[in-house]
Amino acid sequence: MKILITRKLPGDYHKLVARDYEVILWDRDEVVSRDFLLENIKDVDGLLCLLTDRIDKEVIDKANKLKVISNYAVGFDNIDIEYATLKGIVVTNTPGVLTETSADLVWALILASRRHIVGADRFLREGKFKGWDPNLFLGYDIYSKTLGIIGLGRIGTAVAKRAKGFDMKVVYYNKSPKPEAEEYLLKEYNLKVEYRDLDSLLKESDIVSINTPLNRDTYHLITYEKLKLMKRTATIVNTARGPVIKEDDLVRALREGLIFSAGLDVFEFEPQVSKELIELDNVVLLPHIGSASFETRQKMAEIAVNNLLLALQNKEPLYSVNYHQLKSSIKK
Ligand code: DGY
Repeated sequence: MKILITRKLPGDYHKLVARDYEVILWDRDEVVSRDFLLENIKDVDGLLCLLTDRIDKEVIDKANKLKVISNYAVGFDNIDIEYATLKGIVVTNTPGVLTETSADLVWALILASRRHIVGADRFLREGKFKGWDPNLFLGYDIYSKTLGIIGLGRIGTAVAKRAKGFDMKVVYYNKSPKPEAEEYLLKEYNLKVEYRDLDSLLKESDIVSINTPLNRDTYHLITYEKLKLMKRTATIVNTARGPVIKEDDLVRALREGLIFSAGLDVFEFEPQVSKELIELDNVVLLPHIGSASFETRQKMAEIAVNNLLLALQNKEPLYSVNYHQLKSSIKK
């Protein structure tokens, strides 16, 4: 059997696959080219890919033997799941292991974008620090404020529990309420989180964290109209997927001072980041590093490889997006 792997993996996990299978590896440190992907997908049995690789109908149609697509990410909006399922291809992902690391980064962005951490560092390095100043780099408090979480899944819940240490009130919006997550946070962390509809959450929160997957319901969930509902002293942080926020609208809101600040780890047209955003001082910009710790990226590689190998052996992968759906459709 033949496997296509679209990037060398941390911990050299791609080499593990090469022990038992013929591996075609894109070994450059850049996103796999579309041509390479389309050419090499033709006769492989498995694909291990990244969130930057668009696995759409065109790619799937070229794949004559493909049994499994193992995505090295928890998000899978880069893959046409419906079409892969229709073609009987198992799609897997890497949830769980990156939850806490990603939640840490949400807090790094919250702190940085409320307290001018990046701008203040730059200011000092440029030799502009001439002495303590009562008006230098004033930001807004975090402790005792209200945190609004959009998407109370694994990462949203991990973000919420960290708010306990900041004595915050926590509210959340989700497509439907999540009583089991509410119960978990209450029982394990003595933290009461309350459900709100989206507009109420935006009006009430001092800090909004987006932790929802990207899908038809969440595409452009946050527009200018929604940002207008927020407090002028509020901060919005997005570490989920760029297109959840309409980026032009966010630029407009930040320019007009409709909100105090933003922190972004993801972008609508990633890896392109609009010039307008780059020119703004009230936004902290990161290159999609939510899960980027040595420990986590290694664990993700281990899971992605295991998912791939299990599916190739016709066994249930550790984490799959459509395995049960495929099995039940075979039974029918
Ligand atoms: C994911 O896994 O979906 C993150 O965006 C990157 O780790």
